[in-house]
Amino acid sequence: MKVEYFESYDVMSKRAAEIIAGELNKKSDMVLGLPTGSTPLGLYANLIEMNKCGEVDFSKVTTFNLDEYYPFKRDDKNSYYKFMFDNFFGKINIDKDRVNIPNGEADDGDVEAAEYEKKLEDCGGLDLMVLGLGANGHIGFNEPEKFLIADTHIAELTENTREQNKRFFDSIDEVPKKALTMGMGSILKAKKILIIITGEAKKEAFKQILEGKITTENPATFLNLHRDVILLTDLKFNLKYEMKEKEREAFEICNFKIEKLNLDMRLTDVKFAPDNSKITFYYINPSNKMLDWGTLVGELRAIFGKQIEVIQVKE
Ligand code: GLP
Repeated sequence: MKVEYFESYDVMSKRAAEIIAGELNKKSDMVLGLPTGSTPLGLYANLIEMNKCGEVDFSKVTTFNLDEYYPFKRDDKNSYYKFMFDNFFGKINIDKDRVNIPNGEADDGDVEAAEYEKKLEDCGGLDLMVLGLGANGHIGFNEPEKFLIADTHIAELTENTREQNKRFFDSIDEVPKKALTMGMGSILKAKKILIIITGEAKKEAFKQILEGKITTENPATFLNLHRDVILLTDLKFNLKYEMKEKEREAFEICNFKIEKLNLDMRLTDVKFAPDNSKITFYYINPSNKMLDWGTLVGELRAIFGKQIEVIQVKE
């Protein structure tokens, strides 16, 4: 898994759009899997702009959306169908016949799920699957469970997810209890996967992905089984390394100081020397501008009473 860290949601969204544009320019008739949610809104806005400028062409692209509430009316203000047309499909030059979204109005959800999966396979599978992440680790509506389901199916939404999504509804009672969703197999069979993670609520689920332990309690950890995953995040901490408590604390203190001093650097790791005489802070300098971190080092030395080392690492 390739993890890229960004200083802001906007920069991350731009990068996500560039990745998709890059793939699209290699294969103009690609099969693209798409998510809903607030996370991809920036990505969609960028792609719309790129499409207007003629930098990307969607006319030959086939899309498959990850999920849709079930049963659910297409014209409901909260349908994913409406979301996709309002925020993306309605604003790009896509052939609407090539747009696929699970049909929340289908009489028989199981039949709809099976047909959706078949259509996906008949199209040759996904070239690129774009994903957001649920706070509980769900992808699409593959919720934490004892077991996960491979193909497109009807999923029961967890209370956690219904709570998360209730912000769009008038009350929790209106949040659907079920949804049609691509399964873990439908997703993991994609040739390439791009996952975008933003928001403090996702931190724990993100950390578990980085830890590399696969568990059905966090479906997104299964992405570790895929060969070609790019993960983009604007979460500030690099949780890749299991930091010890004191290192994590030093990390947070240093981060706080960096923000206060308005330094253009992003911490990636903190290590205490084995003899405890020194703390080394590793950082990325995104804009490559000269940094005056003398004040920072002075302040950190005063706090920790130890030798402080600051080392720049490559992104
Ligand atoms: C929904 C969708 C997911 C999405 C997730 C995160 O429940 N089913 O596909 O990734 O929420 O949403 P957001 O990006 O708004 O945090």
